[in-house]
Amino acid sequence: MSDAVSEAYNNDSYPAMSHPAGHPAVMAASALLGGLKTSEVGKARILEIGCSSGHHILPIAAAFPDTSFTAIDISTPAIQQARALADRAGIRNVQFHDADILSWTNHAEPFDYIIAHGFFSWVADEAKTALLRLCHDSLSKNGVAMISYNTLPGWSLRIPLRDIIQTLRRLPSCHDSSIAALDLLESAMRGANSDYGKHLQAIIRDARAKGEQQLKFDDLAPVVDPCYFSQFVHWCRQAGLKYLHESNLAPGSPALLPEGAAPVLQELRADPLLQQQLADFFTGRTFRTSLLCRHDAALQTPDFQTLMRLCVEVLVTLPETGNAVTDRVCDALRATQPQCVSIASWIDQVDSCSPEQAVSVILQLTQLGMVRLRSTPVIFSELIPEKPALSAWNREFLKQHNPVVDAFHLPCQFAADDRAILQSCDGSRSFAEIIDSCKNSGQIDAAHALFLHLGRRGLLL
Ligand SMILES: C[S@@+](CC[C@H](N)C(=O)[O-])C[C@H]1O[C@@H](n2cnc3c(N)ncnc32)[C@H](O)[C@@H]1O
Repeated sequence: MSDAVSEAYNNDSYPAMSHPAGHPAVMAASALLGGLKTSEVGKARILEIGCSSGHHILPIAAAFPDTSFTAIDISTPAIQQARALADRAGIRNVQFHDADILSWTNHAEPFDYIIAHGFFSWVADEAKTALLRLCHDSLSKNGVAMISYNTLPGWSLRIPLRDIIQTLRRLPSCHDSSIAALDLLESAMRGANSDYGKHLQAIIRDARAKGEQQLKFDDLAPVVDPCYFSQFVHWCRQAGLKYLHESNLAPGSPALLPEGAAPVLQELRADPLLQQQLADFFTGRTFRTSLLCRHDAALQTPDFQTLMRLCVEVLVTLPETGNAVTDRVCDALRATQPQCVSIASWIDQVDSCSPEQAVSVILQLTQLGMVRLRSTPVIFSELIPEKPALSAWNREFLKQHNPVVDAFHLPCQFAADDRAILQSCDGSRSFAEIIDSCKNSGQIDAAHALFLHLGRRGLLL
């Protein structure tokens, strides 16, 4: 194992983050579109590689108490933190292992879902090979793995930023801070009108949004090794794995393609993998969340009834399109929000639109990244309870200054004032008392708005 990689993660904590594309219900729905019918999440065996302090896996484990989870990470402090968090939040169905993927072997049953987010591009080649071997050896017959990675050629445009930050950080005014280096760079580039200048400014904005700690483990990590999609698929094939689909479809939305790309891609319709590689060339995509299965897994185009059982999460404000059928489906979806329920549960209420038409619209919206499909619903009450409480794990995340994780598995950051209010949501104080305590700071309206937001994100128990 690369010493620099293990040292980085043992000496400093990786910023905690949950990843919707690595949620097994999202993986299951996307795998289905690729032709694989996976096991029910509620009865599955799930493995996470590089789990860090458990921020991703713990909320999923809490939501599926009968599912068995295993999670490994090379960082001893991160695993200790994950175990302590699970303990305090009363989550008992995750086994955390402090282990290097190079030497860890699964001695139990195979896994139905394997999640490796933020791992592949940030480790040495031997660990990449070990990950693919583990997926091959440990996936169940209809199991699915999600591996995220940085992609070329899009990512190569960001490589100079690493060198620039490392150079600028050394200037006394930057005090060894990457964000200060970015600020300096941005002010130096002010007024730049060249293509290079505009490109750099866009990258600076993106990098700054990550924050100091995230940058350290992302763009500035000891290993940052992006690859072409076609290269990744080739390695997977060599390891006896088959590429299925993407878990997160939004970055591959056809809407992001330049106008002239369609005829070129059309010419390649018999070779969908090459088509995808070309789409990456045309869009400059930087990241993928690829789903893999065993090379001998049985794949089948999903039938209509199976598609009807998929649940739809709305990700954007759905537009009025002027197309009557699409607009009726969008109206029906708006009416289900913020819940994420199966197509079958609302399809009958859509006038003058056959179930087949509705499913076809949903699949188009999915391709466009406007909705996300899940194999299980997300149902909660939006109402503010008399004594509002955050879940035990979210209270723990708050204590550790980490993002809280909403019902859709999105990490949510809050400003300091809002965090103080969230901290008081432990089920011991009434809503009226909490609102009353905001009187002195004149924050009553803001507190009401905050609670409405928390209700819509399914954060209140
Ligand atoms: C960039 S972090 C990603 C954490 C988390 N999965 C996420 O995406 O937010 C990579 C994680 O992989 C772990 N890691 C790196 N090399 C490893 C290895 N050889 N075996 C097991 N874990 C490793 C690190 O300790 C770190 O927690």
